[in-house]
Amino acid sequence: MQVKISFGTQGRSATGVERVMPRSRAQARPEVEVAASPLESTLAELDDLVGLQPVKEVVREVVAYARVQQKRAREQLVTSPLVLHMIFKGNPGTGKTTVARIIGRLFHQVQILSKGHLVEVERADLVGEYIGHTAQKTREQVKKALGGVLFVDEAYSLARGGEKDFGREAIDVLVRAMENYREQLVLILAGYKDEMEWFIRTNPGLRSRFPIQIDFDDYSLFELMAIGEKMLAERDYALSPEAGEELERILRRSIFITGAAQNGNARLVRNLIEEAMRRQAVRLMQNPRPTRHELMLLERSDFQSAIKITEENELRACPIRPTATPF
Ligand SMILES: Nc1ncnc2c1ncn2[C@@H]1O[C@H](COP(=O)(O)OP(=O)(O)OP(=O)(O)O)[C@@H](O)[C@H]1O
Ligand SMILES: [Mg+2]
Repeated sequence: MQVKISFGTQGRSATGVERVMPRSRAQARPEVEVAASPLESTLAELDDLVGLQPVKEVVREVVAYARVQQKRAREQLVTSPLVLHMIFKGNPGTGKTTVARIIGRLFHQVQILSKGHLVEVERADLVGEYIGHTAQKTREQVKKALGGVLFVDEAYSLARGGEKDFGREAIDVLVRAMENYREQLVLILAGYKDEMEWFIRTNPGLRSRFPIQIDFDDYSLFELMAIGEKMLAERDYALSPEAGEELERILRRSIFITGAAQNGNARLVRNLIEEAMRRQAVRLMQNPRPTRHELMLLERSDFQSAIKITEENELRACPIRPTATPF
């Protein structure tokens, strides 16, 4: 990432990117392009996410704490063991995977993790069909994740089947891996809030192993619109005023009817926008010479067609949330 700076008195922008203002005309020198450090770029990427204020604060705190512990170790001061395994609680589309990916990169940049990559798994990737199969499958995923983050989505489902379920075996292997590869692996267990709380309650050994728990709240209508605009800008698209109204109407309706918990949050916005982009492409096929402006603009009709397809897909993709234990 490149940021523009010129020499003089230092100031810091909201994104944490260095901006240097000229001290005086006499001292002012020409502006130069200076590359932000990878760590600054990744922190700016975290800051750029819409909302998620508590999440951003915890992540910054954990990174700062980890760095200070490392520096203390270099000075031979007493250090507390760094236990960086985490629990993410939140509904689908609230940014859990996005934040986990950023955390991996941040930990790599502050030399906690050697690679910082993310391996995202769910029950089916860990649990096998016969005795011994689960341990083998889970160990394989752990191996892939060494040096990075192992992210287990819907982790509570590992405890769902009761004592005889192979999910228990996967939990045991994960717990052992956390201890054995303490320096090489960050384990993140993610899932719906209530289910994850049940999971931790029914597995008391887990609580102390996951000192960092982060809540991902559902996005408000305002935040969903801001996420949509950000996604469009990144893709070089824009909304006509009518398309903006239509997107807002669809999102409001979706929050009202389905409830934020099940409407897919930011994922719904992404699906809608990507579908509207495809509808726009079909519409533009009728136009032999679309202008630059037309190539960028999404219209109301694009969203009207998109919602039909997206709703059908969302219904299929969004699992019906279990309501009572056993999960
Ligand atoms: N705060 C945000 N700002 C901008 N974009 C976001 C934000 N949160 C999520 N997104 C975008 O929304 C999409 C879904 O996010 P993500 O996959 O991280 O959610 P999730 O909580 O992991 O969902 P799931 O439980 O369905 O896996 C991604 O394209 C992501 O980039
Ligand atoms: Mg995810």
